[in-house]
Amino acid sequence: MDVGIIGTGLLGSAVVKRLSLFHKIHVYNRTKEKARDLEQYGVQIEDSPMTLAKKCNLVITIVKDAQAVEQVSFGENGITQGKHDGLIVADMSTINPTASRKIAKKFAESGISMIDTPVMGGPNLAEKGQMIVMVGGKKEIYEKCKIVLDLIGEKTFHLGDNGSGHAMKITMNSQIALLALSISEGIILARKSGLDPTTFLEVLNSTYFKTGMSSIKGPKMAKGNFEPSFFLEMMQKDLDEINTTAKEIGAKLPMTELANKIYQNAVRNGFGNLDYTGILSYLEK
Ligand SMILES: NC(=O)c1ccc[n+]([C@@H]2O[C@H](COP(=O)([O-])OP(=O)(O)OC[C@H]3O[C@@H](n4cnc5c(N)ncnc54)[C@H](OP(=O)(O)O)[C@@H]3O)[C@@H](O)[C@H]2O)c1
Repeated sequence: MDVGIIGTGLLGSAVVKRLSLFHKIHVYNRTKEKARDLEQYGVQIEDSPMTLAKKCNLVITIVKDAQAVEQVSFGENGITQGKHDGLIVADMSTINPTASRKIAKKFAESGISMIDTPVMGGPNLAEKGQMIVMVGGKKEIYEKCKIVLDLIGEKTFHLGDNGSGHAMKITMNSQIALLALSISEGIILARKSGLDPTTFLEVLNSTYFKTGMSSIKGPKMAKGNFEPSFFLEMMQKDLDEINTTAKEIGAKLPMTELANKIYQNAVRNGFGNLDYTGILSYLEK
């Protein structure tokens, strides 16, 4: 199958590397030069989303936010201008469910099928095909892309209509943002109490309260290693999406609102390009 990937940031590049082992891959990135490194995987770099869409059966968008998805979909030389029979678009960016439903409707009006396919897991897991994929949209469209999505994810959940994949994804990210803050505050409290934060994590990880965050990210955080797999500014963008959605649906999330203020301040103070766990570094400073 000819598969197109739009957006070759941290996640998009990892998905390209994985899928290039199995399919002919076409790539578009707004800043073309940043995609050049991927040529070594035999991928073809395209000049526009339109050119890419013309050559592909499935186009996966992995860009920053809803505005970026709109831009590559409906902007000048966007995906819709490369429309052909059987073209399917799968949006793997993290955006809010309402925006996703509007985008799906716009695609449908252009005669193009779209599903939302956000993922859990970072670039490392994407390269190994071990993501968790959350799908929203018509089941028959999902089934047509399953062969490709199963190469990225070890488990896929079809959750319902358009937007339901994103609804689940932002629910997941509220957990991640709060867990990163929780471990950060634990490390700070341990340090200020004269305890070794590594020992704090060792004790925590010996208990029922052990998480992937405390066992995998925690030790890196304690050492001050904030090499990004998911930028802090992206997490802040997701907290905006969570809070916007919560207001729309009448969900009260006081901790998530506070978390957003903390992440916003971290971004304002220049911490946006660290890994999201760099929230520890911001809190310590
Ligand atoms: N990294 C992860 O672990 C992870 C996991 C799950 C979901 N996600 C989600 O996946 C998406 C991409 O994340 P990432 O980590 O790959 O971020 P990233 O490394 O910052 O890459 C962002 C990508 O979006 C593109 N972009 C931004 N604004 C655009 C616009 N207006 N028009 C067209 N393209 C635009 C960028 O193009 P340029 O190169 O030109 O700037 C780049 O390709 C986000 O929605 C994120 O929340 C990421």
